[in-house]
Amino acid sequence: MAGNLRLQGKVAVITGGSSGIGEASARLFAAHGASVVIADIQDSAGRSVAASISPPGRCTYIHCDVRDDQQVAAAVSCAVDTYGRIDVMFSNAGIVGTMASVLELELDDLDAVLAINLRGTAAAIKHAGRAMVAAGTGGSIICTASVAAVQAGYGPAAYCVTKHAVHGLMKAAAGELGEKGVRVNCVSPYGVATPLMCGAVGLSSHEVEALMSELAVLKGPILRTEDIAAAALFLASDESAFVSGHNLVVDGATTVVGTHLSTALRNFVGSGGV
Ligand SMILES: NC(=O)c1ccc[n+]([C@@H]2O[C@H](COP(=O)([O-])OP(=O)(O)OC[C@H]3O[C@@H](n4cnc5c(N)ncnc54)[C@H](O)[C@@H]3O)[C@@H](O)[C@H]2O)c1
Repeated sequence: MAGNLRLQGKVAVITGGSSGIGEASARLFAAHGASVVIADIQDSAGRSVAASISPPGRCTYIHCDVRDDQQVAAAVSCAVDTYGRIDVMFSNAGIVGTMASVLELELDDLDAVLAINLRGTAAAIKHAGRAMVAAGTGGSIICTASVAAVQAGYGPAAYCVTKHAVHGLMKAAAGELGEKGVRVNCVSPYGVATPLMCGAVGLSSHEVEALMSELAVLKGPILRTEDIAAAALFLASDESAFVSGHNLVVDGATTVVGTHLSTALRNFVGSGGV
């Protein structure tokens, strides 16, 4: 890979980097030459991911609850103090939160999901954006949204709301920060077997992968955290130098096909209806 390091010399902060998509991204970004700050609340897991990335010192862990504006500011400062700059913010920390139907939704539970998924993303964009604008060197901010930011039905109501909001925030930020040379995009995963997903549906990794493959339009590949990390790598790197305000949906065409309708139509055609 030595001749093809796509993030050589860049510095990235990854919120939610202790596990799942964030962890895979920390490993991939570092493998492509980036220095990485993992900002998370799972201290033991985050420290162990950072320590396992070589060469030593290439990855640093900082405790950061994204609900706290000052802790997000400190994570950005950690990148600048430790590695001299920040080029990439991957705002990826998130939870599913309340599974309640909109009819049963407790507003405090809605606030709890918004505090991490939306407010945490706003804080990440704000503090990384400020540092990038102050340095005058541009930068790339990537926000993990979801297929739940594209269509309803991929998660509970509160989660769907927050991910739509992240998508809107990304567009607003891309509009504002473009003149400062800072790009802002989303990556929107389909279902991936991570602790978040397995916990939400109460299934093992293997069961989640089987279910997601069965429900996806694209057959063959199984979506893994590394695939989302690869999409984030593209958005982080200079290969996407003119890509901003974009939502990179990684879903094997699942949200572009109205699956309920297409299944019904297929059955109808199969029964000789048309
Ligand atoms: N796994 C999926 O199917 C899927 C699909 C679409 C979108 N996403 C999104 O991907 C992102 C990453 O999730 P994942 O699937 O890798 O799950 P994960 O549970 O493996 O990772 C989420 C990470 O976020 C961290 N986190 C949670 N609350 C935090 C807080 N307050 N401050 C800082 N860190 C916090 C957790 O400690 C964890 O390390 C989330 O935003 C999630 O909504 C996941």
